[in-house]
Amino acid sequence: MPGTYYMPGVNLIHRGALQDVGAWASNLGGTKALIVASMGSTGQEQGRMVADVLERSSIASVVYAGAGPNPTDAMVVTGVQLYGDEHCDLLVAIGGGSAMDCAKGIGLIVTNGGTVDQYEGENKASRRLPPFITVNTTAGTGSEVTSVAVLTDSRTHHKMTIKDWRLTADVSVNDAQLMVSMPPALTAATGMDALSHAIEAYVATNATALTDSLAYEAITLVCQWLPRAFDKGDDIAARHGMCNAAFLAGLAFNNSGLGYVHALSHPLTGKYGLPHGVLNAVLLPAVMRWNSVLVGSRMAKIAVAMGVGHPWRTDRENAEKAIAGVEDLNRRLRIPPGLSAMGVREADLPELAEQAMEELVGKTNPRQVASAEQMQRLYLDSM
Ligand SMILES: [Fe+2]
Repeated sequence: MPGTYYMPGVNLIHRGALQDVGAWASNLGGTKALIVASMGSTGQEQGRMVADVLERSSIASVVYAGAGPNPTDAMVVTGVQLYGDEHCDLLVAIGGGSAMDCAKGIGLIVTNGGTVDQYEGENKASRRLPPFITVNTTAGTGSEVTSVAVLTDSRTHHKMTIKDWRLTADVSVNDAQLMVSMPPALTAATGMDALSHAIEAYVATNATALTDSLAYEAITLVCQWLPRAFDKGDDIAARHGMCNAAFLAGLAFNNSGLGYVHALSHPLTGKYGLPHGVLNAVLLPAVMRWNSVLVGSRMAKIAVAMGVGHPWRTDRENAEKAIAGVEDLNRRLRIPPGLSAMGVREADLPELAEQAMEELVGKTNPRQVASAEQMQRLYLDSM
């Protein structure tokens, strides 16, 4: 299994890791940072937290709390302008996937110029980003370690996927202390996103020995820690366990690819604005069942990783246990029972299935559909 691996050069995962950001920013040669955070009071607060840490290392900063839930090219343009006006030489993102993706877009344009649509696709940039640190506050998207940014065209609403090794951060930070205030619903959604990453990565066509080991351990960690983090947000051991789970799952899928859970999920977010992690959780059982026809032995190993599989059962029985295990976890985390309960209309499914067929993330799914009707069947099975 040949492999090419992308990941940040330095990765900090420990309680209090945020306090190390100033030292690493100095180490990277930064003197003034643009801090990219999510919109609203939480983003402002998180931005100020990073600014305080940087100040203790004599690094100036300006906070741009302008990353919306689905960051757009226009948000990137505003950030690029601020970066230039304030003479910044360092980029620090704090938040979940939105802040990270917006910061990746800003970094890309700061050094490469032009507009983000020019970089849609794979490895289109020619220059590296400025020194770049990602501080994760949700345990799920994996965006702090990935080389991908999804940005929306503000005029056409088209979601542009930019995959470029240059988008990879220099330093990623996972500090469980930053996650204790996440409400249970967000903990469930981001945690199930991490589980989807790990399961999709484990059966993806580009999986390798390295991504297998990352994904397998991530699956075990999610099953071990997510219910506890959901029940008791300030359980620091559970939060740390989920930091590790999401981090490993992020590294796994960044290098192996994803599958139909994400291919089916993206059009639903585009059309209804539904949350990514919850959609993935709802779609995961049907896609696992579809894939298990072809990769039953891999699915059986997933059951073992989840703690619900046994060697004396057949692969088929274990694969069913894995699917049932995900359904049990969904119920335990109060994930909606299906797409209908989330407001998805059956009449929209043909159009959504056509869009799902075009999703690049679906190309590494192990069992490919032969038609849009088959893709639609996966939506119907998740209703
Ligand atoms: Fe995801």
